[in-house]
Amino acid sequence: MPLSPLELIKNLGELPPLPQVATRVIRLTADLDASTEQLQNLIRTDQALSSQLLKVANSAMFGRVREVTTLTQAIMTLGFSTTRSVVLASSVKNLFTRGPAGVHERILWEHALVTALGGSAFSQSMRFPITEEVFLAGLMHDIGKSVMHLKFPESYSALLKHLSEQGGDGLTLELDAFGFDHAMVGEALLSSWNIAEGIQAVARWHHDPLHALVEHQRLVALVALGNQMAFDLQVGIGMPDSLAGATWEALDILHLNDATYQEHRTAALEALERDKALITDF
Ligand SMILES: [Fe+2]
Ligand SMILES: [Fe+2]
Repeated sequence: MPLSPLELIKNLGELPPLPQVATRVIRLTADLDASTEQLQNLIRTDQALSSQLLKVANSAMFGRVREVTTLTQAIMTLGFSTTRSVVLASSVKNLFTRGPAGVHERILWEHALVTALGGSAFSQSMRFPITEEVFLAGLMHDIGKSVMHLKFPESYSALLKHLSEQGGDGLTLELDAFGFDHAMVGEALLSSWNIAEGIQAVARWHHDPLHALVEHQRLVALVALGNQMAFDLQVGIGMPDSLAGATWEALDILHLNDATYQEHRTAALEALERDKALITDF
């Protein structure tokens, strides 16, 4: 019997907080009157974050025409909501690599990034106005794995090692070993951070999109397609048994048939190819 959310939180103990700068940037970007200057002043206090923003602003994803060299230009190029996503991505990356860092942490992070880029490329190709949200949700979808790794460094490392050597379904292994899985843990963490409910739903249901509330299904489905793409490109550890089923559910939700899926998939792969550099040096 899986644990109830309450028992789960009790089992996990204190959850890692959302880093300070991220919290402040989210608050500021939610304020419609906030200025670029205010945002810049906040981000400037974090050197790593500043250089990350410049890198992203210079990536193909944002179709730059000339080199972006200052923080102000970067924020103007990216816009408020993308800036916010990059800040979150950067904070999330720290969370991914804060535990006993090694090859598995690196793969988990790349998997999150490819899922985010792949999912948002699908969204863009299908002309949905939620590309930004898909990017953020993609980054966060497996964050429960990082939390489990942080909380149970030895046993979760062993589980990841087993998965990467023998393959298999991580969700089942997690449930057997801990009584909960990364989807449940991810939802618990994001809810403790007060992250939008749609993104919590992605963490919880990306292996089973039809279980999400109807209003979140499109978002969950797009991230599920990004997740499938990451595994197709062999950026991931193990292979969830639920993957094929989740993709079918996603296609159903998005009203895609074989032909239209392939069409958007090709476009998404092209977009990913353009942004490969972003993945290797983020
Ligand atoms: Fe997952
Ligand atoms: Fe995933």
